[in-house]
Amino acid sequence: MKKYITTPIYYVNDVPHIGHAYTTIIADTAARYYRLKGYDVFFLTGTDEHGQKIEESAKKRGKTPKEYADEISSKFKELWDSFEISYDKFIRTTDPEHIRGVQKAFEKMYEKGDIYKDFYEGHYCISCEAFFPQSQLIEGEYCPDCGKETSIVKEESYFFKLSKYQDKLLKWYEENEEAILPKSKKNEVIRFVSEGLSDLSITRTSFDWGVKLPSSVGDPKHVMYVWLDALLNYVTALGYGNDESLMKYWPADYHLVGKDILRFHAVYWPAFLMSLDLPLPRHVAAHGWWTRNGEKMSKSKGNVVDPKEVAKAYGLDNFRYFLLREVPFGQDGDFSQRALIDRINSDLSNDLGNLLNRVIGMSGKYFDYKISGENLLKFHKEEISQTESLIAQLDPLASQMKWHRYLEEIWKILSIANKAIDVHAPWNKMKESKDEEAMATVALTANILAKSALLLYPIMPKSAEKIASALGFEINEESFEKYIEKSEILPDILIQKIPPLFPKIEAPLMQEKKESEKRRQETQETVSIDDFSKISIKTGTIVEATDIPKSKKLLKLKVDLGEDSPRQIVAGIKEDYSPSDLIGVQVCVVANLKPAKIMGILSEGMILAARDEKGLCLISPLRTVQNGTPVK
Ligand code: MSP
Repeated sequence: MKKYITTPIYYVNDVPHIGHAYTTIIADTAARYYRLKGYDVFFLTGTDEHGQKIEESAKKRGKTPKEYADEISSKFKELWDSFEISYDKFIRTTDPEHIRGVQKAFEKMYEKGDIYKDFYEGHYCISCEAFFPQSQLIEGEYCPDCGKETSIVKEESYFFKLSKYQDKLLKWYEENEEAILPKSKKNEVIRFVSEGLSDLSITRTSFDWGVKLPSSVGDPKHVMYVWLDALLNYVTALGYGNDESLMKYWPADYHLVGKDILRFHAVYWPAFLMSLDLPLPRHVAAHGWWTRNGEKMSKSKGNVVDPKEVAKAYGLDNFRYFLLREVPFGQDGDFSQRALIDRINSDLSNDLGNLLNRVIGMSGKYFDYKISGENLLKFHKEEISQTESLIAQLDPLASQMKWHRYLEEIWKILSIANKAIDVHAPWNKMKESKDEEAMATVALTANILAKSALLLYPIMPKSAEKIASALGFEINEESFEKYIEKSEILPDILIQKIPPLFPKIEAPLMQEKKESEKRRQETQETVSIDDFSKISIKTGTIVEATDIPKSKKLLKLKVDLGEDSPRQIVAGIKEDYSPSDLIGVQVCVVANLKPAKIMGILSEGMILAARDEKGLCLISPLRTVQNGTPVK
């Protein structure tokens, strides 16, 4: 019984953030879960190091691509090591074995007649390392995935006959109900494939930083398309094309990916595998994206969540719990310290931690920390059977990566124990000299906690181990088999006193970069009056305001600055103002800002506004002044 679980390999043009940590922690949870169930698990992660984007990032920093890749790749590895991520292999696409494996795969596809040479001309987004047909571009120019400008690339290229696999792919989705998880995402993929697949350009001549074609094909000016190189990591990590002894783990059981890269994994990758005559993965599981305090994370906004910082402030297990519990698998989620604190205080501290404290307290007070399960079934048969039937529902949830539901069910189990204590009140039973009954309720609680600890281990390994040690047992395959799979009751328990596991958190533990802080930073840097006078700010009246339907934030305005005709200005104010509020409003405009195209629309100035926690507020003169009056 084996399970092969993978994360995407991360681009080395960015340091690790919460999104990377999320994918990796889900994969780690699955790996730990299946190991505990006795599976032979192989868990792969690593870094994706080739391609134009990396080449350019390295150049900007005055480094060679390899130097740059070494530096960032080690940051990922260090983070996963400090998080005790239980990977079996960390692959780098610059590893010589990987490169050899990729070349072997290319050779095989070529010999099979699935690769041919032609010319490619199309819109390419460097940031996403992907071509897009004109029909998909925003305003005919901008990348539909990241919104950045695309460039037209015409070059000689080798093509993979993706079109040949269209029907086979559709058949695969149809015959494999759970090939794509969550199931709701499958329809998106089917729609994409049904619309028709064009052959895929899989080599580039416009840059060098990539895997060269195999010598049997020659053509040294070509390097491989980074996604072909990257996807193949899932088999080269097992020795494909080299020593293939680890290929026994293939096919992958779970490819964990973000929704943005589902198409690559659910369309291109299975087609490459069919061409290589290799079996297809059992599940490609796509999760949603995280935002921070409701906003998209970006380096320029300085709001990227650093997983190391969160784990340091709140504890790694608490962070892991939050990530998996807060968001249904496949949906987008929002990170805020408030939401994290709420989860810790209510779920972990109140429900779980408190239950353990109650067991420790009662067993110490009444039974000298020695608990026997002897009369458990006599008094609590019903509770035990409820617990067992909830446990029986967990495996299908885990196997579909529905960890939020899995945790929800465990919390139902915990509430059985909390309720039993309240209803049976062991302290009263002791007063009535019904010691046996009191002991049975404490034993029920200890058993429920023990089983919960085993089930929680994949998500919160350290905390689960601490609960287990307080209850005098160890978490391992054997105890999982006994107490979870065979539903056994723990024999006599010698309780160990331990400090509270989940202390309540009163106030945020991480400093948010506040607006005031940013402001202070800005005001510390002074400019001369000459510098300031270079900026021409003028008053003007908004005479027209229209929606830009494809944009969430932008409105197109016409502002009368007392010139021959009104200026066209694209302003990011849609979230705070609707077009009808704006007509006739007098505003302040930076009038000599270099014109720029935003989403393909010319913008000839910038409207001034202030932003605080309530949102954005346009700056307007206190009385109406003549349009075009300079602001000094
Ligand atoms: N190198 C490719 C993957 C190749 S796999 C053969 C890549 N790398 S990435 O570093 O850009 O992204 C890796 C993963 O991080 C993706 O699964 C992506 O969805 C995830 N995330 C990046 N930002 C994210 C959020 N803000 N939220 C959640 N996950 C996101 O793509």
